[in-house]
Amino acid sequence: MLSNLKPQAPDKILMLIEEFKGDTRQGKIDLGVGVYKDPNGVTPVMRAVKEAEKRIWESQTSKAYTVLAGEADYRNALAAMVLGDVPADRTASVATVGGTGAIRQALELARMANPDVTVYVSDPTWPNHLSIMKFMGLPFVEYRYFDNETRGVDFEAMKADIAKAGKGDVVLLHGCCHNPTGANLTLDQWQEVVAILEKSGAIPLIDLAYQGFGDGLDADAQGTRLVASRLPEVLIAASCSKNFGIYRERTGLLIALTENAEARDLTQGAMAFLNRQNFSFPPDHGARVVSTILTDDGLRGDWMAELEEIRNTLLGLRDQLASELRSLSDSDRFDFIARHRGMFSRLGATPEQVQTLKQESGIYMVGDSRLNIAGLNRDTVPVLARAIVEAGI
Ligand code: LMR
Repeated sequence: MLSNLKPQAPDKILMLIEEFKGDTRQGKIDLGVGVYKDPNGVTPVMRAVKEAEKRIWESQTSKAYTVLAGEADYRNALAAMVLGDVPADRTASVATVGGTGAIRQALELARMANPDVTVYVSDPTWPNHLSIMKFMGLPFVEYRYFDNETRGVDFEAMKADIAKAGKGDVVLLHGCCHNPTGANLTLDQWQEVVAILEKSGAIPLIDLAYQGFGDGLDADAQGTRLVASRLPEVLIAASCSKNFGIYRERTGLLIALTENAEARDLTQGAMAFLNRQNFSFPPDHGARVVSTILTDDGLRGDWMAELEEIRNTLLGLRDQLASELRSLSDSDRFDFIARHRGMFSRLGATPEQVQTLKQESGIYMVGDSRLNIAGLNRDTVPVLARAIVEAGI
C-alpha cells in the first residue's frame, strides 16, 4: 500500500535550510527560513524563557494531561496580548500545535460551519497557507496584494478583490509583518477592510505570527484589535514561535470571536473537538513558558525589553541595507526595504537573479526573492548590497 504513495514536492522554504547546511563556502549568508538570528548567527533562547523554564522545572510535579483546549492561564494571557481587552462573553480559544496548527484548525472550523466556504488569500502569501488548503481540498481564491512596482500594498486592487468574498467566506489576512512581502496595511486601510467585511459578511482569519517584530507589540496588533472590535465574527491564529523564540515548542493559539455567548460555547466545543481529532491534548511546555512570562511582571518586562532589542536590530539592518543600496545603485529604488516591517522583504528579483545570488555569492533567499532581514548583521549587509547590485537587480 505505502508504495502507492506519490513523492511530495519538498517545501521550498525548508529545503533551503538543508541546501544552506550543505554549502561549504566560507561567508555564505542564510536569508531563508523565518527564524531570528543574533549578529553571531545564533537563534538564542530568550532570557525570560530560560528563567520561566527553570521555574517550571523547579515547581512542576506532574506531566499528566491538562485540558483539551489547553490551560486557561495560557489562553487568557495570550488572548489579552493579542486583543488588549478580551470580550470574554464572545471569545473562544484553544491552544494549538504552533501557529500553523491554529491556521489548520481555523480552516477546518470554517469548513465545519460552512461546507461551501471559499477562502480568499493574498497574492502572494506564506506558501504553506496554499499548501494546507490544497491538501484539505478547500477552495481558495487569491486577492491582489503586492504592487511589484512600488513594493508596497496595491490597496485598490486588494479592496476590489476581497469585496468579492461573500457571506460565509473567509478572508485570510496577515495581522502584521506580511509574509513574504514585508508590505503592510496602514490603520486607515484596516478601517476600509473592516467596512468591506462588514458589508459582505465574510469572516476574517488573521494570521498573527510576528507580533512584536514590526512597530511594537501593541502597534502590531492594532489592525487585529480594530477588526475584533468591529466585526461580529473573527478568527485569529496567533503564534509564539517568533516573538518568544520557542519555534520548536510548537506554541500557538486559535481565537474565535463570536456573535454572542451561545455561539461562543458552540465554537469552544467545536474547537476542542478539533484538537481531540487532530492531536488530542495540545503541547503544554511552550504554553506554560508563555503564561509564566506573561503573568509575572518581572519576566514580562524582561521579555518585552529583549523583543524590543530584536525589533530595533531589524529596523537598524533595514535602514543600513536601504542606505547601502541607495549609494551603490545611485537611486532610491530600494528604499522600500526601510519602509517594510517584520522579518521579511520581497526584493522583487527574478528567480534567475535569486539563483545568481546563491551560486555566485553564497546568499540564500526564497525563490520569490523573499529575504529574511534577521539573517543579516552589520558586516553582511554591505556584502548583500554589493551582490544585489552586481546581479543587476
Ligand atoms: C517562514 O515563513 O520562513 C516561517 O514561517 C517558517 C516556516 O515554517 O515556513
